[in-house]
Amino acid sequence: MSISQLARTISASSTLVLNEEARILREKGEPVISLGIGEPKNKTPITALLSAAAKLSEGNIKYTPSDGTPSLKKAIIRYTEENYNRLVAPENVIVSAGAKQSITNIILSIVNPQDEVVLLAPYWVSYPEIVKLAYGIPVVVVPEDGTFKPRMEDIERAVGSYTKAIIVNSPNNPSGAVYSEKFIADIVDFCERKKIYLITDDIYHKLVFDGNQARPAYEFTTKDIESSMVIAVNGVSKSYGMTGFRIGWTIANRKLVEVMNNIQSQTTSGTSVLLQAGAEGALTGMQSVVESLRLTFENNRNVIMQELRSFNDIKVIKPEGAFYCLPDFRAYSNDSVELSKFILNKAMVVTVPGKDFGMEGHLRLSFAGSIKDIMTAIERIKWVLDLNSPNEIYIGDRKLIRDWL
Ligand SMILES: Cc1ncc(COP(=O)(O)O)c(C=O)c1O
Repeated sequence: MSISQLARTISASSTLVLNEEARILREKGEPVISLGIGEPKNKTPITALLSAAAKLSEGNIKYTPSDGTPSLKKAIIRYTEENYNRLVAPENVIVSAGAKQSITNIILSIVNPQDEVVLLAPYWVSYPEIVKLAYGIPVVVVPEDGTFKPRMEDIERAVGSYTKAIIVNSPNNPSGAVYSEKFIADIVDFCERKKIYLITDDIYHKLVFDGNQARPAYEFTTKDIESSMVIAVNGVSKSYGMTGFRIGWTIANRKLVEVMNNIQSQTTSGTSVLLQAGAEGALTGMQSVVESLRLTFENNRNVIMQELRSFNDIKVIKPEGAFYCLPDFRAYSNDSVELSKFILNKAMVVTVPGKDFGMEGHLRLSFAGSIKDIMTAIERIKWVLDLNSPNEIYIGDRKLIRDWL
């Protein structure tokens, strides 16, 4: 079989692969718990369901404009005004099939072969692969050991004449870190001066804990949207728990939106009119659903932190947002892929290797699931790794004895 050189360089999304593995194990009746999940477990907001159902019952499910229905775009404009303090025009907005497609279309629109895109480790798994799809080169900036926040001086050093963009994701997947306002202000200023695009992936921007907020990059530029280098990506997947709707969007200057729309119109066309109606229902409906998810995750974060602190040898930085934490397991293994497999084989707990996020020696643990699952999963991981934990455990209805430590 002949496979292109480009396609050969692209790996499958490890998180999706792991989710599939967990599903297969569960189907076989194994008592698997997934801390790999990247989605809230809530029911779809009722206003989203009603809006999509109303559209469905019209019995007129057709193409939409490829950049999104006018009414969804209107809802996004209102959302942007309320949350970003920016009034944008419909020509500054393009709706795509999830934030993932938004980011892909942005990168395809701005990156020439061999152009560089700066990623801040730990970064979301898909960024490097999306950059490679455009024949670009991901350049990774690593934070100081023991921290998840990049330093401006390291970013400035990584930027060169081929740099086209920097991607910032705060609250961050996989670490839960929320970058400081000063950092956002500095990086906006740097990108505006250097004429480098600053792509802010704001998909978790409403899921911030401890009374804090993630301030959007647009608040830190005095430039109007047509001359600003800031591009914002957002969507309904995480804040509204609507991952299956596959609706994301981009706010950018008109020229870029036009180019992205050209690409989208030649590839997927517009996303489904039903799902756009659903997203519109969520954006214009009761916003208490978002706050309720945020509170659930903050509570789950507190539980997982308490459980993890009872481990002797792992280091964990308290997540400030999103629904992931990224403990340092190097006291047990430097190979996160092997460690993740070992934990799955011995204890039926899915974790995601930090290697996939540019943080070897760490494991990403999602706390989007139930408290019971979180507590049981951490107890099992402890049993696998920690000599101080009892060496017998029940997993499902099997009593297991640890004989490898
Ligand atoms: C940082 C980040 N950006 C984008 C996405 C993709 O979002 P969507 O499901 O809207 O494509 C995810 C999903 O896990 C994510 O974690």
